[in-house]
Amino acid sequence: MLALISLLTLLPSALSAPIFGLSLGSDADPATGATTVVSLSDVESSLLRPAQFARVAYCSTKSITTWTCGDPCKALGNVTFLQSGGDEGLIPLYYIAHDPTDESIVVAHEGTDSKNILSILNDAKFGLVDLNATRFPETAGQGIQVHSGFQQTFERTADGLLAGVQKGLADFGVKKVSVTGHSLGAAVATMTGLFIKNNVDPSVEVTVTGFGLPRGGNKAWADFLDQNSPVTFMSNQNDPVPAVPPRFLGFQHTSGEIHIVDDSQQNFVNCPGQDNENCVTGNSLLKTDVGNHKGPYFDDISFGHSACPDGQ
Ligand SMILES: *[C@@H]1O[C@H](CO)[C@@H](O)[C@H](O)[C@H]1NC(C)=O
Ligand SMILES: *[C@@H]1O[C@H](CO)[C@@H](O)[C@H](O)[C@H]1NC(C)=O
Repeated sequence: MLALISLLTLLPSALSAPIFGLSLGSDADPATGATTVVSLSDVESSLLRPAQFARVAYCSTKSITTWTCGDPCKALGNVTFLQSGGDEGLIPLYYIAHDPTDESIVVAHEGTDSKNILSILNDAKFGLVDLNATRFPETAGQGIQVHSGFQQTFERTADGLLAGVQKGLADFGVKKVSVTGHSLGAAVATMTGLFIKNNVDPSVEVTVTGFGLPRGGNKAWADFLDQNSPVTFMSNQNDPVPAVPPRFLGFQHTSGEIHIVDDSQQNFVNCPGQDNENCVTGNSLLKTDVGNHKGPYFDDISFGHSACPDGQ
């Protein structure tokens, strides 16, 4: 990881890129797809707070609003809740908070369990549709398509969410936004991240992190995100969710995958390029484990209602 650190100092202009994407310049080579080891401390330094915030998004709105969601809230320390939206039903919850530790505004999207997400992903009525070019005018004419169910979910809360982020940035005078989520929440986070980036001052750094992220759109979408709003996402062993919807239907992952190799919560690799065959994309469909979707990912972090008080 020394090579990664020296590369970071050489590339100040690339600082808004995902942390691990930068290690491409070391021995990880997108052409060969060779992976490189990532230490637990490197995972923790960039992904621990996003994971903890994404975990809180599964708790009840009331316990998030009052920041009394038990251990998931306590793990984050003194955080100020700012706004929530959604209805814990058809419209999945999101919340916005100020994180004094990271001097950032955080947006976390709630996900759904492996059964629900797999039924959404396997539902033929949710295919690829054009990205909303009214909302993302700079993408017009580039053939960008996204998963229709993810876009519908995103559209339901996008405007109120952006207003809340803009207010949070102004009220707290911070220059960072961290967007995070697990499962469906990770897929929506990729759209939210780009939307926020397009609508806040260019000096604001926007990072996007996902856990158990499914494929969210076509190659044009993956390329556009890689260039304009890079994503870092963790895939856990044989979780089937990041392997769907399949590539033969035209779906493609962005770059930025960190793959969890075994259940020790210690062994991680950086997977250069999009849909790296040495990571979750190369998994055998005969060997899936839906339990891997929930976790634990690292530091005993699992996602779902069971971590919240009364399992709510
Ligand atoms: C918690 O954060 C708020 C706002 O950022 C601040 O006013 C308050 O003093 C902090 N409390 C503690 C115990 O650090
Ligand atoms: C596209 O985005 C605009 C806002 O830019 C919104 O008013 C409209 O409802 C969106 N269209 C769809 C189909 O979601």
